[in-house]
Amino acid sequence: KKIGVLMGGLSAEREVSLNSGKAVHAALIERGYNAVAIDVGRDIAARLVAEGIEVAFICLHGRLGEDGTIQGLLEVMGIPYTGSGVLASALAMNKTVAKVVFSANGLTVAPYVVLRNSDSFNEEYAGFGFPLVVKPSQEGSSVGVSIVRKQEELLPALKEALKYDDEILVEQYIKGREIQVAILAEQALGAIEIVPKREFYDFQAKYTAGMAEHICPAPLEKTLYEKVLRLGELAHRVLGCSGYSRVDFLVTAEGECFLLEVNTLPGMTALSLMPEIAQTAGFGFADLVEEIVSSAAL
Ligand code: DAL
Ligand code: MG
Repeated sequence: KKIGVLMGGLSAEREVSLNSGKAVHAALIERGYNAVAIDVGRDIAARLVAEGIEVAFICLHGRLGEDGTIQGLLEVMGIPYTGSGVLASALAMNKTVAKVVFSANGLTVAPYVVLRNSDSFNEEYAGFGFPLVVKPSQEGSSVGVSIVRKQEELLPALKEALKYDDEILVEQYIKGREIQVAILAEQALGAIEIVPKREFYDFQAKYTAGMAEHICPAPLEKTLYEKVLRLGELAHRVLGCSGYSRVDFLVTAEGECFLLEVNTLPGMTALSLMPEIAQTAGFGFADLVEEIVSSAAL
């Protein structure tokens, strides 16, 4: 079957996606699949038809790719694709809606308020003071995210986030270790700890070699390690995700696991965490890619 590796796209994470897509495409070719790289633009439906694509391996990140829209198009066209379906993708992409679903299922999330466009933010009303975190509701790779430590930093942070979305999440800052869980075939593969050399695991720390230390498996005490794996599986399940995902947490000194989000199309670049966790679990990059493609809803 002819596989189209969908990459690039129209989001702020375009460059990241091109790196994920190229790596996946190379792995498919290495394993003997008939795969073509497709840079996704507005003409994607016509391209899929012209190229005769029979299965789509989606390597898009962010909106118009990770959020259910491409998945919906592929459903309509009758083309099987990798990863989560329309609803799970849309839920996971919207951090605000995802929090509601997580909370309803007993998962712990940071206290938050949602701002839309010109709403003003009153920290007394919100019930939490500084520091706090401002982020666009629907973005990835920490694009538009700021940690706000004092009043003067708040307005610039809101303006920055508003560049990317008109729905903004203001969250209480949680001091914790960055722990991420990889899910493959609906089961946790393992967890990794990220120790950024910057204030937090921001865009630069994510994609510049040497700017974050990765420790895999995450050096958590055994019970806590198991707990975070189970919570990762639960988060994946309650959103209705399928195939694979990467679930991000902040784990406090008291062992409380704050769920940040589920990434339904986690990065597959050389510095990405899902492949690193898979590697530690005995799946090389090409093994991981083969496992994912074999799970494409057929
Ligand atoms: N949003 C990026 C690609 C990630 O989660 O890895
Ligand atoms: Mg993300």
